[in-house]
Amino acid sequence: MQVLINLLSNVEKFCAPAGGWGEVALEVGGDGVTVKVSDNGPGIDAQNKRKVFERFHMVAEGDTGNSRGSGLGLAISRHIVEYLGGRIWVESEPGKGACFLFTIPLHKPKMAAMLSSMTGGELNAGIKKRRP
Ligand SMILES: Nc1ncnc2c1ncn2[C@@H]1O[C@H](COP(=O)(O)OP(=O)(O)OP(=O)(O)O)[C@@H](O)[C@H]1O
Ligand SMILES: [Mg+2]
Repeated sequence: MQVLINLLSNVEKFCAPAGGWGEVALEVGGDGVTVKVSDNGPGIDAQNKRKVFERFHMVAEGDTGNSRGSGLGLAISRHIVEYLGGRIWVESEPGKGACFLFTIPLHKPKMAAMLSSMTGGELNAGIKKRRP
């Protein structure tokens, strides 16, 4: 939950200044859940894809006017996800938005089967936000 909150706060911070949007998708498979959080912000270049998960790393962004944080959110998220036995990564092409994904293994097959049947294996929840 904390991981999702951080990813969504990043979407809020970094999505496009006009017509910005973010989307959350949840996929339940046999061995766990994958959560996908995407946005239409500036994206992250190859160099920074690993670095953003390090403590205090913030990509220099010129004058986009984003309120800056502490650079801790993703580092904390990575710790939580890895503690739970999952992994977190980002897929992005600069200029084409960012997509953060994390997986959490569900060790209990019954739970996975139940979630899977409840959602039909996949559930998409879109959130749209607009800036004035
Ligand atoms: N969705 C995103 N699109 C583009 N860049 C991002 C995105 N999410 C994170 N980043 C980059 O990764 C850096 C690290 O993110 P992180 O969440 O760790 O820190 P923060 O949001 O700056 O501060 P905090 O989460 O501690 O308030 C950000 O400063 C930003 O440069
Ligand atoms: Mg953050």
